[in-house]
Amino acid sequence: MHRNGHSPSLRVLLSGAAADQLASAIGGEPTLSLLGPAARNGNAQAGSPADVVLHVVPSSSSPGLAEEIAEVRKASAAPLILAAYGEPNGIVETGLAVGAADVLTLPQSNETLLFALRKAALANRTGDAGKILTVFSPKGGSGKTVLSTNIAVAAARSGLKTLLVDLDLQFGDAALALGVTPRATISDLASSSGHTDVEKLKAFVCPGPTADLALLPAPTRPEDAQVIRQGDLKAILDAARASYSAVIVDTGPLFDAAILAAVDCSDHLLIVCNPEITSLKNVRIGLETLDRLGFPRDRTSIVVNRVGAPGGVVRREIEQALEAEIAYELPDDPEVPKALNRAVPAVIADEGGRFARAVSELARSLIGEGAPAASPQRRSLLRGRR
Ligand SMILES: Nc1ncnc2c1ncn2[C@@H]1O[C@H](COP(=O)(O)OP(=O)(O)O)[C@@H](O)[C@H]1O
Ligand SMILES: [Mg+2]
Repeated sequence: MHRNGHSPSLRVLLSGAAADQLASAIGGEPTLSLLGPAARNGNAQAGSPADVVLHVVPSSSSPGLAEEIAEVRKASAAPLILAAYGEPNGIVETGLAVGAADVLTLPQSNETLLFALRKAALANRTGDAGKILTVFSPKGGSGKTVLSTNIAVAAARSGLKTLLVDLDLQFGDAALALGVTPRATISDLASSSGHTDVEKLKAFVCPGPTADLALLPAPTRPEDAQVIRQGDLKAILDAARASYSAVIVDTGPLFDAAILAAVDCSDHLLIVCNPEITSLKNVRIGLETLDRLGFPRDRTSIVVNRVGAPGGVVRREIEQALEAEIAYELPDDPEVPKALNRAVPAVIADEGGRFARAVSELARSLIGEGAPAASPQRRSLLRGRR
């Protein structure tokens, strides 16, 4: 479970030479979760994406500001507010030059600060475009397919129009796990003539086991994966984003063309790890590889699956081995293989069970919920979209 549960608070990444000064002023605000080195209010959600970046400098004429902000941008692409203590001279021009969404002179009342932070975060939520969550692990058998299928069902049941894309191109088994017989697969879509757009994508997806859920299955044979090029994957994910509120991507255990395309298009990555040393070794290397690919850590969450399995490594040791914080934990639960072998996701087969409740809470926390079924309007979604 997420350590903060389903929190509606605004996640603010505090940066800049005067961040400490502002952190002590706003650290007690219950509607804010502060992230970054200046965050000391115990409210921070490790591994969660920032909704807004607040870059605080001692004066509006701080030298080296552009370099500082370029550094912050490596960690988060969320809208940035530039705040400077002292005289307002030139702050608007400086803000414009560094691509800030807003500028503020300090000090300000907490009320004014909260208003500016919320406004910048809301302005970033782009209309109807859906959000893409990729479930990845550099270790086979860690539970990627179990998680992605159950998250997709949970999202669809909450009222979000959801697509599960199986990018484990050689041995994908999302269709099997959902109990769906593919009528077409991603290789049929990629090898059909013409560019993939929304209409074409919809013609190739299969209905899932629950309303509001569709599946784009993996090829039925490994050799069929060869027809799929990286450009096809990007076009498919773009079309998926344009026509679904939530897009969940299942993956294989390799850093192949499929995962590179998924990383490129994803709003958030969920990295699955088991409490075993071989899994920890691979996940650690995987995190380092993602760093090198430039995927920001604040859009990556680590989930430990199968917590409580006999002989498992404990949380503290996992965090030490990964040098990263765990965002979610899911229990080892015998109902999971039982449900899988019946081709029914655990959130349906064992709705009130331990795993089902924990994975539903994870889905709510990462993806949000849809509007009530009667209303055509919907709420969104994954945060921190690029
Ligand atoms: N939380 C869990 N508790 C018990 N068994 C689990 C759990 N998560 C996954 N499993 C089992 O682990 C195996 C591998 O899961 P799978 O999702 O196919 O892994 P991957 O897609 O990463 O290769 C399956 O047999 C599944 O039933
Ligand atoms: Mg799998």
